[in-house]
Amino acid sequence: MDGNGRWAKQRNRPRVFGHKEGAESVRAVLKGCAELGVKYLTVYAFSTENWGRPQDEVDFLMTLFALTIDREMGELMKNGVKLQFLGRLTKFFPELQKKMREAMEKTKGNDRITLSVMVNYGGRAEIVDAVNEIVEHRTLNTEQRVEEKDVQAHLYTKGMPDPDLLIRTANEMRVSNFLLWQIAYAEIYVTETLWPDFRRDQLVAAIEAYQKRERRYGKL
Ligand code: IPE
Ligand code: MG
Repeated sequence: MDGNGRWAKQRNRPRVFGHKEGAESVRAVLKGCAELGVKYLTVYAFSTENWGRPQDEVDFLMTLFALTIDREMGELMKNGVKLQFLGRLTKFFPELQKKMREAMEKTKGNDRITLSVMVNYGGRAEIVDAVNEIVEHRTLNTEQRVEEKDVQAHLYTKGMPDPDLLIRTANEMRVSNFLLWQIAYAEIYVTETLWPDFRRDQLVAAIEAYQKRERRYGKL
């Protein structure tokens, strides 16, 4: 979800104004996905690198996460949304962690659509965490080689299908440590639209572009 800061700057407003509006885009895109039959929406909300932003911006984002969980919970339950927060959650304030875990617990039985919010997330960190889990769970049988399915089964996204479509807003042409393992065969769609302007129409345009792609998975 890139371009919040630029969106605010264009309006001579502080960067955080863009984050606030960006939260409205998540809401609109989630609704659009649910209506279009998309089963999984995964958004990159806070990277392991984002702690390096000015303290007041980091604080604002933490508050925004907490307020948004509180505000949206009723709607999420009503619409059958399973909400998960994936990443190294232990770095967050205990109260925020608690809110995130409670939201996950409360919505875990919902099955219309899964919204995964990646927070304190890094693709490399996720793979490292998976490898450590495998090593810790290892029995004495060290003859056994670790296979792709083992790594897959220990990622934060275990049990979820790999994404078909990766949408990158604000014209950035990089992956920025997002779902490194999972996007092996994802179709990438880059748009100049800044995240706060990315709503249902832009989602439909992205999906239409995706439908025109021919996916070969390395075959002819
Ligand atoms: C949102 O956009 C990303 C978050 C960390 C929430 P940015 O804050 O990166 O916006 P730009 O790139 O400065 O426009
Ligand atoms: Mg950015």
